[in-house]
Amino acid sequence: MKHLISLFDLTKNDVDEILKIAFDIKKLHQKGERPSHLQNRLLTQIFDKPSLRTRTSFEASMVQLGGFSAFMTSAEAGLQGRESLPDVSRVLSSYSDAIVIRTFSHELIENFAKYSTSPVINGLSDDKHPCQALTDLFTMIELFGPLKNQHLVYIGDGNNVAASLVIICTMYDLPVTICTPIGYELDPKFLKEFKSHYSKSKLNVTHDVNEAVKNADVIYTDVWASMGQEEEKEKRAKIFAPYQINKKLMEAAPSDCRFLHCLPARRDLEVTDDVMESDQSDVFLQAENRMHLAKGVLTWLINHNK
Ligand code: CP
Ligand code: NVA
Repeated sequence: MKHLISLFDLTKNDVDEILKIAFDIKKLHQKGERPSHLQNRLLTQIFDKPSLRTRTSFEASMVQLGGFSAFMTSAEAGLQGRESLPDVSRVLSSYSDAIVIRTFSHELIENFAKYSTSPVINGLSDDKHPCQALTDLFTMIELFGPLKNQHLVYIGDGNNVAASLVIICTMYDLPVTICTPIGYELDPKFLKEFKSHYSKSKLNVTHDVNEAVKNADVIYTDVWASMGQEEEKEKRAKIFAPYQINKKLMEAAPSDCRFLHCLPARRDLEVTDDVMESDQSDVFLQAENRMHLAKGVLTWLINHNK
């Protein structure tokens, strides 16, 4: 059974196939066509954290491809003590053609997948956000054409989004810089796992923002306090202030550099309004692409596991 819990689950060839389906479906969508690739299929989504893009883009994808989607929290599914995880997983996967899970613990998603007879997709865990990074690669290909050494510079917290960007860039042999405050670097456990999958990479880690943006083709940021870290918000706002993406920092980067953000954005914390709304910002294209990519992932995974 093929799942998408981490980008380590996919080969470059798998990602090429997913991207091709997503590009084809986006082209059809722009012509007003909605192919019935997932007719009579059911996607179940279990979410323990808020979501605008992930939840709705997967729901829209199912409806537009001829299928359906059901939504529940893990408590509603019975995962908070009503029933054992192996039982919930076996029952739910017998009804569903795919299951998206957004929760805190990455291990919970991995455990769920062990018992699932349908593909499981990580809709964000504390550790990883693979569907976001796949979308970001898709968006970069739209912006630049076939990718060749485009440099993605991520500035902010060394979090789930940063980790997934490191994997996707390395898979495509792209240079990637992760620039964080001291103490907020990529998780050493992640780096160990990363090195066990990729012996060579063009990963550069730094704390110096001005140095980081010098040769950037894309500047990317995310919230400073992720879901589950709300109580650290004020402390982080002070520590991360020098890492804000503002006009001055964009001026220190090449003039044709693009700006991406997975959203939601905390305007005037990690990014200023003038950057979000500037001609260099592609954040709403990126958000729309979550849906085209979700269609690619669902179609590929469900057909792959037939
Ligand atoms: N980027 C992203 O995952 O957005 P949501 O949290 O709204 O799903
Ligand atoms: N790092 C953020 C991403 C939100 C899409 C979080 O986990 O809350």
